[in-house]
Amino acid sequence: MLTHTKLKKMKEEKDPIVMLTAYDYPSAKLAESSGVDMILVGDSLGMVVLGYDSTIPVTVEDMVHHGKAVRRGAKETYMVVDMPFMSYHSSLSETMDNAKRLMQETGAQSLKLEGAGDVLPVIHKLTKSGVPVVAHLGLTPQSVNVLGGYRVQGKDLETAETLLQEARQVEENGAIALVLECVPQQLARRIQEELSIPVIGIGAGVGTDGQVLVYHDVVEYGVERLPKFVKSYADLNTTITVALTSYVEDVKKKEFPADSHSFQMKEELIPSLYG
Ligand code: KIV
Ligand code: NA
Repeated sequence: MLTHTKLKKMKEEKDPIVMLTAYDYPSAKLAESSGVDMILVGDSLGMVVLGYDSTIPVTVEDMVHHGKAVRRGAKETYMVVDMPFMSYHSSLSETMDNAKRLMQETGAQSLKLEGAGDVLPVIHKLTKSGVPVVAHLGLTPQSVNVLGGYRVQGKDLETAETLLQEARQVEENGAIALVLECVPQQLARRIQEELSIPVIGIGAGVGTDGQVLVYHDVVEYGVERLPKFVKSYADLNTTITVALTSYVEDVKKKEFPADSHSFQMKEELIPSLYG
């Protein structure tokens, strides 16, 4: 099992860190057998698995439920679980209770939290309590209603400087890695150079220490529109639709099940079935 000490070594040795989200047993199993370094049980599950239009409705209960399934599918892979919307903001004791549940019930190696500012003391306290924290800056989807949409962050010098400052602060407060989402690649590279912890990018260019993508985007499964920063490696939407429509047709035409899919009774018993 990878540790965050090894992750830091990967940064030093310029060995790109591959992170992928997973949300259930089969996705975790395939992620692990494909050789990803880290699995993120992202609160993006709210959108790609549960069908919400943002990550805001996702609960601690949802994260525990999916985190446990992922752990069962990928026992050997470093696993990060997202703390969902407002589960680390209201009070420190509630935050600690939520973190405790997420760590103990899912078997995660670390938890991911969005933002800096008021979240910095939370990162500090969790770290001191034995919970490694992955920070998340740039486009922070839990704040979509404050940011005014899903858009690139840090495009001008002032917001870029703020982001660089926040990146330093999450490291100072103990974060073991930083996920940087939707920032210009030049700024991402600058932050990668500045920090000694690994910076894992999504929509942040090639200059980071690693990359993370959403599972359902990578294989085009259930998602209709892919963001600019995604590279698709398969088209499961088409594959699955072709398969399922063939199944429907086969049943309608009585071409499924064939004898080969069916169980047989001894020939001599059949007449007795009719009394
Ligand atoms: O929830 C998620 O999938 C994430 C990644 C996009 C980094 O936070
Ligand atoms: Na997330």
